Amino acid sequence: MDGDKKLRSAEWFGRKGKDGFIYRAWMRNQGIPDHEFSGKPIIGICNTWSELTPCNAHLRELAESVKRGVLEAGGYPLEFPVMSLGETLMKPTAMLFRNLASMDVEESIRANPLDGVVLLCGCDKTTPALLMGACSVDIPTIMVSGGPMLTGRYLNKSIATSDIWRFSEESRAGLMTQEQMYMAEASMCRSPGHCAVMGTASTMATMVEAMGLTLPHNAAIPAVDARRKVLAQLSGARIVDMVREDVKLSSLLTRKAFENAIMTNAAVGGSTNFIIHLLAIAGRMGVSLAIEDFESIEKNIPLLVNLQPSGEFFMEDFYYAGGLPAVMRNLKERLHGDAMTVTGRTMGENVAHAETHNDAIIAPLASPVKVDSGIWVLKGNLCENGAVLKPSAASPHLMRHRGPAFVFEDIEDFKARIDDPDLDVDENTILVLKNVGPKGYPGMPEVGNMGIPKKLLDRGITDMIRISDGRMSGTAFGTVVLHVSPEAATGSLFGLLETGDVITLDAIARTLNVELSQAVIDARRAMWKPSYPVSERGYAKLYQDHVQQAHLGADFDFLRGSSGDAVTRDSH
Ligand code: FES
Ligand code: MG
Repeated sequence: MDGDKKLRSAEWFGRKGKDGFIYRAWMRNQGIPDHEFSGKPIIGICNTWSELTPCNAHLRELAESVKRGVLEAGGYPLEFPVMSLGETLMKPTAMLFRNLASMDVEESIRANPLDGVVLLCGCDKTTPALLMGACSVDIPTIMVSGGPMLTGRYLNKSIATSDIWRFSEESRAGLMTQEQMYMAEASMCRSPGHCAVMGTASTMATMVEAMGLTLPHNAAIPAVDARRKVLAQLSGARIVDMVREDVKLSSLLTRKAFENAIMTNAAVGGSTNFIIHLLAIAGRMGVSLAIEDFESIEKNIPLLVNLQPSGEFFMEDFYYAGGLPAVMRNLKERLHGDAMTVTGRTMGENVAHAETHNDAIIAPLASPVKVDSGIWVLKGNLCENGAVLKPSAASPHLMRHRGPAFVFEDIEDFKARIDDPDLDVDENTILVLKNVGPKGYPGMPEVGNMGIPKKLLDRGITDMIRISDGRMSGTAFGTVVLHVSPEAATGSLFGLLETGDVITLDAIARTLNVELSQAVIDARRAMWKPSYPVSERGYAKLYQDHVQQAHLGADFDFLRGSSGDAVTRDSH
């Protein structure tokens, strides 16, 4: 190794006597020769490959490219699996397991003879889970995303995940048959990769690129484009040098990196889930960041990218139009150009020569796609610690609205009644869904963009104000207020809401309030009993006992911060 710092892995493989014997002997059963152990940076490839995480099912293959890069640069790669979180199959929600996966990642990195690590991620939760875990160890780390799917094609039209919500409403309104639904389903996911719009997976891939944790273009190269493999190989080579240069996550993840991510997220119209995950990552890194900070940081950052769900195009188009470096170059007078990145250069240097090839997809700062972007943070008596709304996905006519609440106590109540022809709602009603928060569900599922009542769909109503303590898919849209904190399950005022209560949303003033007298509130609070399922054992119990509210990133209280990379005791 260059310099005089000893490799971390030498604490295992560089030992003499019984300990060194044991650490090396069992590795040799894989046919690893002597010289691989001596003085080479050992690079872990932390893989979320799983056939149960379809978005990440190609990551074994991508890991081979990373390995080539590591070997080429004089390191030695060792691939290891961690818990994978597939958004589509996992019940009750992949979010319930984000913190668990992060613990797996943290402990796997710390306990093993690794000098650096490459995080291979893709589907929504895999990116924050891996980064949160890695932050709590803090060895040199680089991230490689699996990349988005190719755009789907249905009836010769481009489709992707955002269309599911449209198809679902159309089929409920009788405008689409089950046969057509099957055809659309078969046409949408036609290649490896994660969701092809600026949903949560692409938002997370954008976030880590904007924070300087990936090589440029990580966010948008399609999964099946050969250049994704090139990026993986170059990342493998680069991590070896990062070990030699001792570039740790803590040297990159400064407040400036977080601010760059927040500004970039506003420019690309990223998912509301961004807020939760970034807050959790900041908590691990010990960077001070509060939900109130987001708006002041992203102020004056318009929407520059015309991608679904806020706009028209798809991730594939985004890459061909110039990808994230082009957006960041357009933002360069606002971003912290001096933030350091994994390339060993600053963000400003990385994007200095980036070009836009299609300004219908990547707009210049002077003529943005939309002026209102980012994620708005609302405050009021219904959400003392905050709630969020994505203006680029909302309807302008509902941004200032006063109306009666129609309250669903939980998701079962919602499903049982939403299509009732006698439901007492009209387009001015505000739909409220309780007990879908971190503790109340548990796990804070993506149900906040609850469907419009069938009787209103039949009248052509396509948007209403919807408020919940849950999340919504990054691919969804609508005038949807999410992440209400404190959640209903804590006995907050939100939990006390009843049908008929008058709510005022003034998104322009960033307020959300209910008109209730203190006497009524006191009377309801005296009667309130928790109505959410309480877990008595296992991980769900740990989760409910320790999860923090949404405005703190829904991480466990005991996981905030870092325990470093040192392990002083041996196992034999
Ligand atoms: Fe995996 Fe959308 S379901 S990224
Ligand atoms: Mg999702």
